Parts: sequence; structure tokens; C-alpha cells
Amino acid sequence: MRLAKKKIIVTGAGSGFGAAMSRRFVKEGAQVLVADLNGPAAEKVARDIGPQAVPFTVDVSVGSQVKAMVDKALSAFGDLDAVVNNAGYTHKNQPMLDVDEATYDRCFAVNVKSLYWAAQAAVPVFRKRGGGAFLNVASVAGIRPRPGLSWYNASKGAAILATKTMAVELAPSKIRVNALCPVMGVTGMLESFMGMPDTPENRSRFVATIPMGRLAEADDIAKAAVFYLTDDAEFVTGVCMPVDGGRTI
Ligand SMILES: NC(=O)c1ccc[n+]([C@@H]2O[C@H](COP(=O)([O-])OP(=O)(O)OC[C@H]3O[C@@H](n4cnc5c(N)ncnc54)[C@H](O)[C@@H]3O)[C@@H](O)[C@H]2O)c1
Repeated sequence: MRLAKKKIIVTGAGSGFGAAMSRRFVKEGAQVLVADLNGPAAEKVARDIGPQAVPFTVDVSVGSQVKAMVDKALSAFGDLDAVVNNAGYTHKNQPMLDVDEATYDRCFAVNVKSLYWAAQAAVPVFRKRGGGAFLNVASVAGIRPRPGLSWYNASKGAAILATKTMAVELAPSKIRVNALCPVMGVTGMLESFMGMPDTPENRSRFVATIPMGRLAEADDIAKAAVFYLTDDAEFVTGVCMPVDGGRTI
């Protein structure tokens, strides 16, 4: 049990990577607040996992709701070891000039401002208890951008720099901040990233760019995430690690 007794919030946990992380964290002994904008999805994931998972409905772009999420974790579990900022939003794959302002704003609100709100709500809690961890789910898109996802790419680039600057400023408080940068995975966001229907032919065009010859599975991300939240990673901060089958080489 590598996460025995850890109390962890996972956002965007009603689907995809977040649901897989929640499942695996509980398997490793943690209690998890399964937080998502889609309340019924969060409830279903939590129900399937069992009593160590508690559902919560949140819009991570709204400060008061993020504060309520942290309060809920504290009241449900009595403590908070880590926040996994995984919820994400993308425009569909299209020319950058075709993305309207509201969609651009939503991208940055969900992918970047959420980190600000999570810091506002959780850092005081972590400082009071003598430490804690954030794990942000960025993307290879923020390291090696490709055409068609420009504003999403930019938001993930911002998430990567936010991870590093949070890490350096919060290090003296023993608060670690790391990020995972997944390659394209089979989740609810896949068709938007591809900008075309998810057919075997279309998928194979994307798979061809990944040296290990497949897309990411949600559990690839979950397995990598576990390490960053264990005590084995107590001296690891500011790392933005690709989980990408070699895509960013
Ligand atoms: N799937 C990929 O190819 C891929 C690749 C790299 C990075 N990512 C990142 O991984 C993270 C997880 O995405 P996924 O691929 O599992 O997609 P997904 O669509 O399966 O899951 C995303 C979840 O986030 C929730 N969500 C969206 N906006 C929210 C908000 N404002 N507040 C709370 N919850 C919200 C959705 O309801 C959904 O349940 C995202 O940050 C995404 O950008 C995904």
C-alpha cells in the first residue's frame, strides 16, 4: 500500500485519467475526493470504487467552489495530503483564428486559473499541517505543440510553468508541486484533440507519431501519478514528466 492513509483530492475524476487515478489511489490505500463538474459522473465513479471514495461536484474555475472542495475533503477525511489538478478543457482541433473568445477563456479558466484557485484554497491547509503535494495534469501539448490546438497548447504551457514556479516558491513550506504530461489518450477528450471522428484509420495517424506505438491508457497516467504522491518522492518537486511513449523525444 504505497498511499496508505493519504487523503487526496482528484479533480476531473468523473472520467478518463482522473477516474483511473482515483481507482488506483484507493487500491494503494488512499481516501479520495472524486471531484468533477459532472456530478452524476463523479457519483458513479465513487460508487464503483467504494466507501474510500467520496464524490463532489465542483467547477474548478470558480474560487468559492474550489474552496468548498478543499473544505469537503477536510470534513470527510480529517486531513489533506494532496490535490491532483486534473480537470481539463480543450477547443476542438481547428485553426487558431477559428477559436472564439469564450472558448479561449474557458480553456484558460479550467486549465490554468484552476491552479490559482487550488493554490489559494489548499496552500494554507498544507502550511498548517507542515506540507503537502500538488500534482498537475498538463500535456505533451505544452512541451511540443502541434498545429490545431494552439490555445489549448498555450494553456498547458502555462500549467507547466505554474508547476515550476509554485514548486520553487512553496518548497520552503515542504509543499511539492509536480506535473504529468500525457500524450493523447483514449478518454472523453480524444475526438476534440483529433478534430475528426475516432475511427481506426484516423487513430493510426496519431499513433504513428508515438514511438512506442500506442496511445496512452488512463492507467499509464494513474501509475505515474502514484509515485509523485508517495513519500518516496519527498525530495522531488518541479518535475514535469512526459508519460508519452516517447512522443516528446
Ligand atoms: N486524453 C488526452 O489525450 C490527454 C492528453 C494530455 C493531457 N490530457 C489532460 O488530462 C486531463 C484529464 O482529461 P481526460 O483526457 O481524462 O478527459 P475526460 O474528458 O475523460 O475527463 C475530463 C474530466 O474533467 C471534467 N471537467 C471539465 N471541466 C471541469 C471543470 N471546470 N471543473 C471540474 N471538472 C471539470 C469533465 O467533466 C471530465 O469528467 C485534462 O487536464 C487533459 O487536458 C489529456
